[in-house]
Amino acid sequence: MNPAHVPVMTSEAVAALAIKPGGVYIDCNIGDGGHAEAILHASHDIFLLGIDLDADALDAAEARLSGYATSIRLVHGNFADVASIAVGNRARDASGVLFDLGVSSRQLDTAERGFSFRREAPLDMRFDVESPTTAADIVNRYPERELETVIRELGEEPRARVVAKAIVRNRRIDTTTELADVVSRALNWPAHSRVHPATRTFQALRMAVNSELDNLEKGLFGAIETLQAGGRLVTLTYHSIEDRLVKNVMRREATQCICPPSAPVCICDHVQSVRLVNRRVLTPTREEIRANPRARSAKMRIVEKL
Ligand SMILES: C[S@@+](CC[C@H](N)C(=O)[O-])C[C@H]1O[C@@H](n2cnc3c(N)ncnc32)[C@H](O)[C@@H]1O
Repeated sequence: MNPAHVPVMTSEAVAALAIKPGGVYIDCNIGDGGHAEAILHASHDIFLLGIDLDADALDAAEARLSGYATSIRLVHGNFADVASIAVGNRARDASGVLFDLGVSSRQLDTAERGFSFRREAPLDMRFDVESPTTAADIVNRYPERELETVIRELGEEPRARVVAKAIVRNRRIDTTTELADVVSRALNWPAHSRVHPATRTFQALRMAVNSELDNLEKGLFGAIETLQAGGRLVTLTYHSIEDRLVKNVMRREATQCICPPSAPVCICDHVQSVRLVNRRVLTPTREEIRANPRARSAKMRIVEKL
């Protein structure tokens, strides 16, 4: 088995959740259970509900947290359904909900999952290996225009048109390294470039395969619904698209009126549900980034339910 994922901004996450004895906490991305272990360790009589789409991650979390067996419930599910999962698992009126988005190091390092362009493997990228669509399906079946839109919007790849054209010209493409090679040649990658040219395309495909933005939006609203008054929602994002979505949902939910500025009177009937705990994002310390370079892009946001 690959080494465990190193959790990011763990002490900051525990502080942000304001953990108290007897509290009910939901870890929407339990992964290898690193954050969960820190939450359980932070106080006594905690009940923790952990959710993940990846059955292997749940096995890893279960093994790591076996000492806390009576205080945890692990669910194979989608955090988009966090509100109903919480109701069915003794976790409604939660004291805190944590999102630690994206892919774990274990998933990245397990070549056959197909998340990494550095290792030859089938183009898969599904968090849940039982879900129907793989990255190969998108790469080989999407019309060129749709492929371009996915790569531009979810990967923020400025040369999405060139990449989509090259993919269509070269398909069928079945493996991660074949795709990385097609993208590198299309973008005429300078050998000294720091970031691999396929990084953006791989991010876009992973987000499309797993419907990440849809799930995130539903998950954030579900989490707010599930929290008790005074409960905290804490998010860790790793790239600008997901951070923007989180920021927009949090700002909107922390506002009393969402009418356009031109509206003469309020007609939105919007009800503010949270307050922003930190106006600016929190980021990892330099020491953490030195010890764990994967932490370098992390951004933490926190709101409190009213
Ligand atoms: C960055 S890892 C979490 C690591 C974890 N915090 C730890 O300390 O080990 C992200 C996890 O979220 C899971 N995931 C991604 N999207 C999900 C979704 N919509 N619902 C549930 N789990 C999801 C992935 O399978 C992955 O295991």
